[in-house]
Amino acid sequence: MKPITTPNEPYRSLSPPVMRGSTVVFDNFQDFANRKTRQPDGYSYGITGTPTARELERRIAALEHGKHCVVTPSGQAALMGCVMGFVRGGDHLLVSAACYGALKTYARNYLARMGVDVEFYRPDIGADIEPLIKPNTRMICMESPGTVTMEMLDVPAIAAVARRHGVLTMVDNTWASPLGFRPLEHGVDFCVEAATKFLGGHSDLLVGAISMNDRGHYEVLRETQSIMGLQVSPDDAFLVMRGMETLEVRLAAQSDATLDIARWLAGQALVRELLYPPLESDPGHALWKRDMRTNGCLFSMILQPASERAHHAFFDALAHFSIGASWGGTHSLAAYYPAPLQADRLYARTDQPVIRLSIGLENRELLREDLRGALEAYGKHA
Ligand SMILES: Cc1ncc(COP(=O)(O)O)c(C=O)c1O
Repeated sequence: MKPITTPNEPYRSLSPPVMRGSTVVFDNFQDFANRKTRQPDGYSYGITGTPTARELERRIAALEHGKHCVVTPSGQAALMGCVMGFVRGGDHLLVSAACYGALKTYARNYLARMGVDVEFYRPDIGADIEPLIKPNTRMICMESPGTVTMEMLDVPAIAAVARRHGVLTMVDNTWASPLGFRPLEHGVDFCVEAATKFLGGHSDLLVGAISMNDRGHYEVLRETQSIMGLQVSPDDAFLVMRGMETLEVRLAAQSDATLDIARWLAGQALVRELLYPPLESDPGHALWKRDMRTNGCLFSMILQPASERAHHAFFDALAHFSIGASWGGTHSLAAYYPAPLQADRLYARTDQPVIRLSIGLENRELLREDLRGALEAYGKHA
């Protein structure tokens, strides 16, 4: 069979084409021999990308106000790939204690065993991170707010210190999405999104993205992507682009409903504390107000102390919220983080069990009813 070339018929669609291919074919010997020179933007084999993945990268970079983007097969692959691209044995890596759990596990169980000096820092450290910087500090990892107990980080302050010392910075920006916060505009080197959440928006795919401005960093990460085998299927890249078409309206509606429901919960007798920076009562509120342009769709709460059975009853009473660990989609979700998980964490915000809610696009009165019923069930065991 001959390779397929671009058809002559005029055909224009509003949808980007899904272009599959592991093999890329070349016009002649010279072209093939020089194929490596096509990187970081071009195509030489499926592992470095397809035109569909490139289109997604172009669109995400535009949203982040960045020059380049590399997409990966999950948010965790983006976090891990970004660190792997630049951190080697003998380097010192600073990781916020409120970063995504799997990133911390990767740092602790893999990087540390490969000779990286991994240090977790207090999420509220701000510019006081300076004394932690050593001559071999290579990168600082942040996530703001941390997506279980919602600690806000002073991202611009940490980025400014890092720049002065020639240290790289990476922010997991998934909570806010690029519509709510753009870390690259605050001096950060790498902005990571789990596109699995808001960008995809429908809980049906796993994709990650690393956006940046520096061409040299982009070359390193394109190579890292290829060496680690981190390419995205064109079907998933297409689905993220479809999700992004409605990102702005979804985010606006979810953000509005989330603040509304969180305020209502804050007034319920059985709710001891809301962990949610958009509320004035949250210690991260001033930073949230200064930096963020969204209420997000995710917050946590701590109920009045009661037995584990009471938490079972709360979750089992839910009818409109599904029980699940992810977030950012159109369906509302509830997740449970038991007390020992908090107590074991460095610089934990609480030692109490945490309930995390992701607010979707359902009727908000139905969601409130659901939570009212769940709190009643909890109260019977409290
Ligand atoms: C804040 C944050 N970052 C990264 C990830 C990882 O994304 P993925 O599930 O696509 O690997 C998650 C997933 O829950 C997350 O919540």
